[in-house]
Amino acid sequence: MKVSRFSRVGFILAASGSAVGLGNIWKFPYITGEYGGGAFVLIYLMAVLVSGISVLIAEMAIGKLSRSDGVSAFESLSHKSKGWKIAGFMIFNGILILGFYFVVIGWVLDYIFTISFNLPTDIDSAQKSFDTLLNASLGTQFFYFTISVIAVGLVVVRGIKSGIERFNNLFFPLIIVIFVGLLIYAMGFDSFDKSVSFLFTPDFSKITTEALMMAIGHAFFTLSLGMGAILTYSASLPKETNIVTSAIIVTFIDTAIALIAGLVLFTFLFEFGSSPSKGPGLVFISIPSVFAQMGITGNIIALLFFISLAFAGLTSAVSLLEPAVLYFINRFSYSRVKSTTISLTIVYILGIAVILSLYDGSSEMFSFGGKSFFDLLDFTTSAILLPLSGLLMAIFVGFVIPKSQVKALLKYSMNDMLFSIWIFSLKYITPLALLVLLLRESGLI
Ligand code: TRP
Repeated sequence: MKVSRFSRVGFILAASGSAVGLGNIWKFPYITGEYGGGAFVLIYLMAVLVSGISVLIAEMAIGKLSRSDGVSAFESLSHKSKGWKIAGFMIFNGILILGFYFVVIGWVLDYIFTISFNLPTDIDSAQKSFDTLLNASLGTQFFYFTISVIAVGLVVVRGIKSGIERFNNLFFPLIIVIFVGLLIYAMGFDSFDKSVSFLFTPDFSKITTEALMMAIGHAFFTLSLGMGAILTYSASLPKETNIVTSAIIVTFIDTAIALIAGLVLFTFLFEFGSSPSKGPGLVFISIPSVFAQMGITGNIIALLFFISLAFAGLTSAVSLLEPAVLYFINRFSYSRVKSTTISLTIVYILGIAVILSLYDGSSEMFSFGGKSFFDLLDFTTSAILLPLSGLLMAIFVGFVIPKSQVKALLKYSMNDMLFSIWIFSLKYITPLALLVLLLRESGLI
């Protein structure tokens, strides 16, 4: 296989591009609103620091040690154990996530081209425009969904270096610039202080087990852990990369963007009199009606906001697709074009089912056990499959790969004490937290 590797900065941008996505800008603010603000943010930060970073380093280590796709990585590092090879199939979680991720990116594209110039003036009309998109404008929805699938396909087909690295180098800095700009703009509003205290003053009475579980699940989702995206990227790391520093930088950037998105959106919501807990519709319903109250500035901000959301989504989508593509290339000797086409065809079919599950005329046909297919994919991946794979990776690096091999990989990146803390977190703290999460999600405790 032709080896094309990331540059050092290219890797950090690509891993950050993967991490910073709809999860940071769309999901984090609304779940923070739903689960009561400061206390939720605090647990989320702890989950990121304790389990997130350790699993991120573990996933990078598996990728760098094996230099292979997810399935081959588990197979070779476990010395061909069939059982562990199964863990590698987590790469297909990405295909499931993409089934709904592309649909949401499609909505964002529609908002860029239609809503940003024609903002709904109140919540009711905002709700109506969103409903129209889901119900009356099926064609529009399919159109933008298809465009986003094709766009990501065109990037992945070009491979790591000239596709993925180039795409992220171009667009990831743009996301940062837009968000820092939005933050500076938001700081000028009186409600900025209120937004800061909403996010950073914990009210511990609001911490429920559910909030705790949500925070851990989201820490994994936002850092792109548990489906081999980081593993697959790390397989193309340049030799001299310091994994630990890279992991810390990526975590920092990812957390910063989530917090900035939260600060900005809550400032606007408070300033223009909307309450924070608005569920998944926050970005698509409450926020456009808030932008409308800012006059022409609101149109510009809306446009910048949705553009950066689209790029954040697309750079993440690229990373959700690459693991399956690399698997087909490595294991079946398919060409990159063929591998990408196969993977995207599956994604496309899932996406159609997701769109139809939100369409009034067919929602019943596409709902299972009271959940729409959209919710089902979202829930099964974030709440079950990602934590499960995270658990397996922690155990794999903690117990299965010989300690000497892991130590040799990290000897210049961590001192002995840090190494012991990291291994302790991988062996005991993270698996325990994830096990409790999984048992709860499946209703066993
Ligand atoms: N982290 C991205 C977000 O926050 C989504 C994502 C990209 C992802 N790659 C992933 C989630 C791999 C889980 C696993 O939106």
